[in-house]
Amino acid sequence: MSTTSSGKSPASSGLEGVVVANTEMSDVDGQIGRLTVRGYDIEELAGRATFEEVTYLLWHGTLPTAEQLAQFGRELASYRQLPDETVAAIELAAKRMGPMDALRFAVASLTADDKDSDDDSREANLTRATMLVARVPVIIANYQRLRSGERPIAPHNDLGVAANYLYGLTGKEPQASEVRGLDTYLVTVADHGMNASTFTARVIGSTASDMVSAVTGAIGALKGPLHGGAPGPALTMIEEIGTPDRAEAWMKDALAKGKRIMGFGHRVYKVRDPRAEVLYQAAVELADETDEREALELAKAVEEAGVKVLQEAKPGRNLNTNVEFYTALLLRELGLSPDLFSPTFGIGRTAGWAAHILEHRAGGRIIRPQSEYVGPRDLHYVPVAER
Ligand code: ACO
Repeated sequence: MSTTSSGKSPASSGLEGVVVANTEMSDVDGQIGRLTVRGYDIEELAGRATFEEVTYLLWHGTLPTAEQLAQFGRELASYRQLPDETVAAIELAAKRMGPMDALRFAVASLTADDKDSDDDSREANLTRATMLVARVPVIIANYQRLRSGERPIAPHNDLGVAANYLYGLTGKEPQASEVRGLDTYLVTVADHGMNASTFTARVIGSTASDMVSAVTGAIGALKGPLHGGAPGPALTMIEEIGTPDRAEAWMKDALAKGKRIMGFGHRVYKVRDPRAEVLYQAAVELADETDEREALELAKAVEEAGVKVLQEAKPGRNLNTNVEFYTALLLRELGLSPDLFSPTFGIGRTAGWAAHILEHRAGGRIIRPQSEYVGPRDLHYVPVAER
């Protein structure tokens, strides 16, 4: 392998192709479009397993028995009560912060009622992971209610994570089909190899910092439109296009203006992201109840036009739809406003972030890579008055 003048391996732009960890959590095969989570193809789990089952799978390596699942559900429900500091943070955030900023701000306060903050055992970290998965959806739901001028709703402890989130947003017990749709979404996004936010979580976790700090940092990484911030803009695009016949011209115009087409392209996938199909199918299942059939047909047409136009504009890049494209349609069917799409992604991915932190804490070293200095040397200090 070639080396730099200082004898280091050359930097890989965007760390493309660099393996930074061994993991048992998930694998992304971008050549054939296969996502494996703890040994299961995503199509095995999505639409069948609940979010709780897959969270348990990620953290323990096996699917839970009925008894283990019931116990895990009780543990999750027991953490839904937020500490006073977090309640206050959400109230402040609802006044003038956007949802991802609010989530980051409120999650950062969740160390407040950690009585054993010095305990770094796996058991203590599993408790923190459970607390985070339980509370992230409550934070988002309470924030959404407060910013809409409504009071937060007390958690319904007989409901699972997906159902209680929808209940916390609306105050109504959701239909079974809606809960299944949201569970499918949360399962589909729970873990996905070494993406930017998971890497962020692992880096922070690798310093033996606390899990709340690591998840707070990961939320910051997820917020970016090149990562988890794309589904809102993807929906805006579909709405702006409006009818299938306008799709191609819209895309060409956007590319001519140097814009990126949201919901398309991926660092690893060279074929269609398998999660796009899973989410499309989940959206189809809900489409009749939600009157979204026409919107889905439009989205299909936008997808086809996007693939064609991107193939012409960027030949050989293989730019297809990614997870964010049908996320937008599915979450809209569930009644979420577009700016809640990214925080809702955060609910699912918290399970994966925590899994990676637990895995890294079980034996990984501090992540401390190097950089190649390309600036000047041998400069001499000149006092301010003489510059
Ligand atoms: N629209 C237009 N052009 C694109 C797109 C797109 N969506 N995606 C990639 N390209 C082009 C780039 O302009 C670049 O062309 P060039 O080499 O001629 O300059 C080429 O394809 C490669 O792009 P990179 O940015 O190098 O690809 P990278 O692997 O670094 O980026 C990313 C991947 C960030 C997802 C990119 O495809 C993108 O910006 N997509 C749109 C945003 C989006 O959908 N994000 C959600 C990703 S999924 C997730 O993280 C959950």
